[in-house]
Amino acid sequence: MQEDDKLYYFPVPEITLKDLLDWQDPDERSQCHLVRLNAKNDLKSTTHGNIKMYQKCFGNTVIINDKEIALFRIGKEVFAIQAKCPHLGGPLHLADIEELSTGKMAVKCPWHKWTFDIASGICVTPKDRNLIAKTFPVRVDNLGQIRVGFDSFGPSAFAEMDF
Ligand code: FES
Repeated sequence: MQEDDKLYYFPVPEITLKDLLDWQDPDERSQCHLVRLNAKNDLKSTTHGNIKMYQKCFGNTVIINDKEIALFRIGKEVFAIQAKCPHLGGPLHLADIEELSTGKMAVKCPWHKWTFDIASGICVTPKDRNLIAKTFPVRVDNLGQIRVGFDSFGPSAFAEMDF
């Protein structure tokens, strides 16, 4: 774990940059849509330790520092956003990524198609909704190791401590 700017960066185990679908790559993106059409509601997932991994064609979820987080790769950048949609709990890791007219990228929830700015988490559509999806700062090192930043430790960090 790294500490910087009052944030604690937790490494994401078992998933590196190359394991994530690059939404900027048109080939990978089109593959994703093909798999999604074929998969319909029958989405396959596997569990590695405390990590639930879906087909590479979707965003990945990780549980890290007691939070379930969806990870998305856009080029060399990785974005981390709460895994459950703040509207009614839809699975944001199954979201599409859309480019907004402002050039920013947004996560489009598969349930009711609300979109959230992938960097700030602010609800973009529908307008005038005061919902924000929690986002987390991410660092990616030269080896593709991903770290997610938190401003505090989750309860499990203290579970085995003797006070
Ligand atoms: S649950 Fe995500 S838009 Fe409704």
